[in-house]
Amino acid sequence: MTDTGAGRRPDPASGPAALPDEAALAEAGLRLEIDGAVATVTLDRPERRNAMTLATWRGLAALGRSLPRGVRVVVLRGAGPSFSAGIDLALFSGGGEGFPDASDGDAADRFIAELQEGFTWLRRPDVVTVAAVQGHAIGAGFQLALACDIRVLADDARFCMKEPALGLVPDLTGTKPLVDLVGVHRALELCLTARTVLAGEAARLGLAETVVPREELDTAVADLVTALLAVHPGAAVATKRLLLEAPGNTLEEQCAAERREQIGRLRELFG
Ligand code: ACO
Repeated sequence: MTDTGAGRRPDPASGPAALPDEAALAEAGLRLEIDGAVATVTLDRPERRNAMTLATWRGLAALGRSLPRGVRVVVLRGAGPSFSAGIDLALFSGGGEGFPDASDGDAADRFIAELQEGFTWLRRPDVVTVAAVQGHAIGAGFQLALACDIRVLADDARFCMKEPALGLVPDLTGTKPLVDLVGVHRALELCLTARTVLAGEAARLGLAETVVPREELDTAVADLVTALLAVHPGAAVATKRLLLEAPGNTLEEQCAAERREQIGRLRELFG
């Protein structure tokens, strides 16, 4: 498999790859706007409720590889009434044609890993990622929201992990954040019933940082972005790195990580 570098900071020596052009993004059902330190990625097939294809996930991975260095915040949003209806169900109509040959385990593993790269880069410490979710976020759509650092929900938002109902497992990096956020037992209940979680319950379960009236979603996200950009850039990167490490660390390891990051900060601030 090609090492695309998604999920981690691009190689500082070579810099980011070239951004995909507008036509390639449109083909993938995506739109990109960069305004200074803020990149907004819009899932842009509202007539299909932003259903995602393999091209969408590859397009997201390409965006991760090519994000300009100055970008500090990435907002993921969906055009139209819903964030995303998940995988494009047309993929299922060809008798598995778009899917890898599962009899070749290694090739299938590489195939899925490449798609997962569209999601993993959203955890990179050099950006803070925000999902702005209205309407349905189903299956892969829910997993995309889970891949982001912060979820801002409109009050009409609805999450559903539909994969098990379709004979699949959630494999687009969603099971880890889901379990981290709600615990194994609630995650099990949500996935194995494939039930819909409304915005209020999502907030209670820790699946949303904020819930606002639908018409206030854009303003709430803009206010959040302003607040995120007001924090010292280097401290933001170091703090995200530190916080992401915390769940896997013992207290001792985390104290050591705090010392390491703070020494880096002190060096930068005071030489
Ligand atoms: N794939 C392809 N097309 C879709 C999808 C999808 N996942 N979801 C919706 N569409 C299409 C519909 O077929 C419809 O097309 P049409 O206008 O040609 O009839 C159009 O988008 C609008 O859909 P509606 O159902 O009319 O929209 P509504 O807002 O009433 O409902 C909802 C939205 C709830 C998302 C519904 O469309 C739905 O349940 N979609 C399927 C969701 C699903 O099962 N996704 C797979 C999850 S598993 C995974 O992601 C791995």
